[in-house]
Amino acid sequence: MLLENLRQAYLPPTTWPRMTLSEELCDGCERCVKTCPMQILELRDGLPAFTGLYDEFRCVLYDSCLAVCPKGAIKSVGVYRVHSGRYKNVDVFPSDETTYPRPFGDDTPEDFADCEERLTETERVIFKRRSVRLFKKQQVPREMIERIIEAGRFAPSAGNNQPWKFTVVQDAELLQDLCKKTEMIARPLSKLAFPNSGEEFERRPWRQKAFATVFSYKRPGEGDQRVAIGVKAVTDMPYHEVFLGAPTAILVLCDKRGIGNVDLDTALAVENIVLAAHSLGLGTCLIGLLNIPLLFFPQMRKKLGIVHPFKLLTAISVGYPLGVCDRAVRREPARIDWL
Ligand SMILES: Cc1cc2nc3c(=O)[nH]c(=O)nc-3n(C[C@H](O)[C@H](O)[C@H](O)COP(=O)(O)O)c2cc1C
Repeated sequence: MLLENLRQAYLPPTTWPRMTLSEELCDGCERCVKTCPMQILELRDGLPAFTGLYDEFRCVLYDSCLAVCPKGAIKSVGVYRVHSGRYKNVDVFPSDETTYPRPFGDDTPEDFADCEERLTETERVIFKRRSVRLFKKQQVPREMIERIIEAGRFAPSAGNNQPWKFTVVQDAELLQDLCKKTEMIARPLSKLAFPNSGEEFERRPWRQKAFATVFSYKRPGEGDQRVAIGVKAVTDMPYHEVFLGAPTAILVLCDKRGIGNVDLDTALAVENIVLAAHSLGLGTCLIGLLNIPLLFFPQMRKKLGIVHPFKLLTAISVGYPLGVCDRAVRREPARIDWL
């Protein structure tokens, strides 16, 4: 068991979900290509096709592309399963079947749309909210940002300690600068963690293997291959930039001296903000990539208010979605033990 835990952190044997495309339905609008945070798709002969950025179709986000497809031309099939080693997950889910929301259990109609009327407004927002990666350029007015942060202010927190703090960035130049700085640090890290080409996948250089093994032991969440794939997409591919083209970023900080688990408290505020935003017709996407790169830029941290006693928890890209992005998607079955 212990040995298994230490092995195969680097590109472990994995089954990836697959994407299937109906050529008849697809009109080549490119929304799936532009939204794919893994940059796995490109438009070829007018149709989305696998870019070949990786040795195989390494998609972990299941339905993010089908959520934005106006024609219903895309389906994702199968689930993400690691078969052995540190990140083995073949045995942790009750089944390999993903399902649309089933709020009424077996009474939920086959087509989720048929039960929407029976949902509360809150449930509707929860089930249909998606991470939005297609934004209009139009800026979000200050009152709207204040309104969604107000929803965050009323999140529960341990001992009511309210450890959160927000830095709202709407200055396009500052956002660009932040993107550039993040990419500058993320690029070499990505090269350390991930092979560059098809051939390198075969060779699997020992340096990358060693790095991933040690790193994943120290920071299991960040050593997961899915993080390396996401970082590679941001640093290597043309469409993708850190804030996904959103005109506003809310940096969410928390006071390290708060009671108990300040990350948990602040995450609850984040979710309130995100849900309030979607209920108002805004789009959001959490951006987790900034933390490590910003360690290298103390001046920028100061400018953003990330100074003691505050630390950065996450950022939220906010803007008006370009077309329909919020839709129900499928998810892994819940793991529940009833005692
Ligand atoms: C802590 C955190 C960090 C995330 N960071 C990023 C990011 O840097 N870039 C991105 O495109 N999506 C990011 N996401 C969005 C996830 O990919 C997304 O929530 C997940 O695929 C589920 O899809 P959904 O939000 O549409 O339901 C992040 C989500 C969380 C919770």
